Amino acid sequence: MRRKLVAGNWKMHGNHKANAELLDGIHSARPFGCDVAVCVPFPYLSEVAVALAGSDVRWGAQDCSMHEQGAYTGEVSAGMLHEFGCRYVIVGHSERRQYHAESDQLVADKAKAALGKGITPIVCVGETLAQREAGETEAVVKRQLSAVIHTLGHCAGEMVVAYEPVWAIGTGKVATPEQAQTVHAVLRAQLRAATARADQMTLLYGGSVKPDNAAVLFSQPDIDGGLIGGAALKAADFVAICRAAG
Ligand code: G3H
Repeated sequence: MRRKLVAGNWKMHGNHKANAELLDGIHSARPFGCDVAVCVPFPYLSEVAVALAGSDVRWGAQDCSMHEQGAYTGEVSAGMLHEFGCRYVIVGHSERRQYHAESDQLVADKAKAALGKGITPIVCVGETLAQREAGETEAVVKRQLSAVIHTLGHCAGEMVVAYEPVWAIGTGKVATPEQAQTVHAVLRAQLRAATARADQMTLLYGGSVKPDNAAVLFSQPDIDGGLIGGAALKAADFVAICRAAG
C-alpha cells in the first residue's frame, strides 16, 4: 500500500500575511493520514522553513536550475534549495514548458540536479487539449517521461511523477477518474520497464482537484495523491483535500 502525498503548488501567489495564515491553517489541522507538502515561491522559502520547523508538513520549490552554480542570472540551484530544507522541487510544470520553452531534456536535467542534492523532483507530464483530441496523449506523456527515465538511470525510482493534463489546469475541467487512471497506468507500466521501484513510486494527479472530487480521484489504483494549484491557496480546501487522501 503506497502512502499518499498531497502537494500544494502555490505558483506565483502569496504574501507574508496570507502565507502565515495559510500555513497556520494547514499546520493546525494536523495530523494527516498522508504526506503533505507546500511548494512555494523562492523568496518565501525561508519563512516557510521557520513556520514549518518541527512540523511533519514538508516544503519545496517550484523549479530549480540544471546547473550547480555559475553565471546564470535569475536561476536558483538545487544546492540552494537544499540549504532551505526543501524536500521537493517541481520540475517540468506545463507552465514552465509553455512560457519558458523548457524541453523534455532540460526538465530531465533539472530532475537529476535535484536528486543530486537529495531533493525529490516532482516531474510533471501532461498533454494539451489539442494533443488529447488528436489521440496523442499516451505518446506525449511517454515521451516526456522517457527523457527523465533515461537521464536519471538507476535513480529513476526516486522521483515523484505528476500527471497534469494541461486542459485541466486552472480550468475547472477535471479529468474523469477513468481518464486520469488510464494515463497513470500507462506511466506506471513505463516505469516498471525502467525500475524495480515502480510499484513503490508516487504518481500524483493534478488539474482542478477540489475537495469534492479529490476522494474519487485518489481512490484510483495508480493515483497516489495530488498536485494542487488553486485549491492549495485556501487552508480549508487544501486540508479537505488532504483528508480525502487518507
Ligand atoms: O501544479 C498544479 C496544477 O497546475 C494544478 O492547478 O489545481 O489550479 O488546476 P489547479
